[in-house]
Amino acid sequence: MRDGQPSHTAFGAARHRALHQDLDGAAVFRDPLAWRILGVDRHAILAGVGDDAHRALRWFIAARHRCAEDRVHAAIAGGVDQVVVLGAGLDTFAYRMDHPGVTVVEVDHPATGTWKRERLHEAGIDVPGHVRHLGVDFDHDDLVGALSTAGVDTHRPVVAMWLGVIPYLTRRSVAATLGALGSLSCEVVADYRAPLISTPDPVDLDRVTSLERRVAAVGEPLTDPLPPEDMREILTGAGFVTIDDLDRPAIRSRLLGLPPAGDAGGGHIVVASTAT
Ligand SMILES: C[S@@+](CC[C@H](N)C(=O)[O-])C[C@H]1O[C@@H](n2cnc3c(N)ncnc32)[C@H](O)[C@@H]1O
Repeated sequence: MRDGQPSHTAFGAARHRALHQDLDGAAVFRDPLAWRILGVDRHAILAGVGDDAHRALRWFIAARHRCAEDRVHAAIAGGVDQVVVLGAGLDTFAYRMDHPGVTVVEVDHPATGTWKRERLHEAGIDVPGHVRHLGVDFDHDDLVGALSTAGVDTHRPVVAMWLGVIPYLTRRSVAATLGALGSLSCEVVADYRAPLISTPDPVDLDRVTSLERRVAAVGEPLTDPLPPEDMREILTGAGFVTIDDLDRPAIRSRLLGLPPAGDAGGGHIVVASTAT
């Protein structure tokens, strides 16, 4: 991220969620606030989509949010009343959810958090009393201490989503953040990118190099992909005991209702819990 600037990729991810509402009929993830928070000319954007080159990324983003929100709703139904949205960007879960007594803490890099609050204000989206905003840099700050100051009771369970962030962080920051979450009673839904298999499909390779180029150009370069066995080791070392790691074939079959197919590298979605 560029010093003092909000995240550009947060805008990009939110744009994909908005496009999913129209181009895919919100088939996987419904978000009535997706366009509003962006503050753009929806018709102009839709008219300029062109050859729909980012279809696969858009469906992946829709799938990860659907998976995460389903887990959050299930946790709330099970009695959890503290939700943490890490690296929230323009995520709108907190402004759509309707669960009395449940607190949502949005954690983000301070510059992105400030921009988000401006976007909410300009879009006329009220910030309900159950929402708190917390500025944290995953590279440097003490996450558990920060959550406590935001009113999270760190002795009681939390459910967390951490979407679209790990691919930009160093392995050290990923381990530190998961270590902080793993010291709590926590279920987390996160996504990360795994290396493509040794002889990747040229289309997959092209998608990856094009994404690498685009995000580097806006000052948010991707870090090295994480092999799934390394991710498991980090999660286990952090205190997570139940780990469900979905690769592309599993995402297709379990979240998108499609035949399992494709490279097992690329985007993974992992659901991990400190409880057995
Ligand atoms: C691709 S965006 C994803 C945003 C949102 N989760 C979504 O899915 O739309 C990446 C997010 O990670 C945050 N981020 C990146 N590096 C960070 C860091 N070191 N500390 C805190 N947040 C960070 C950015 O501010 C941004 O909100």
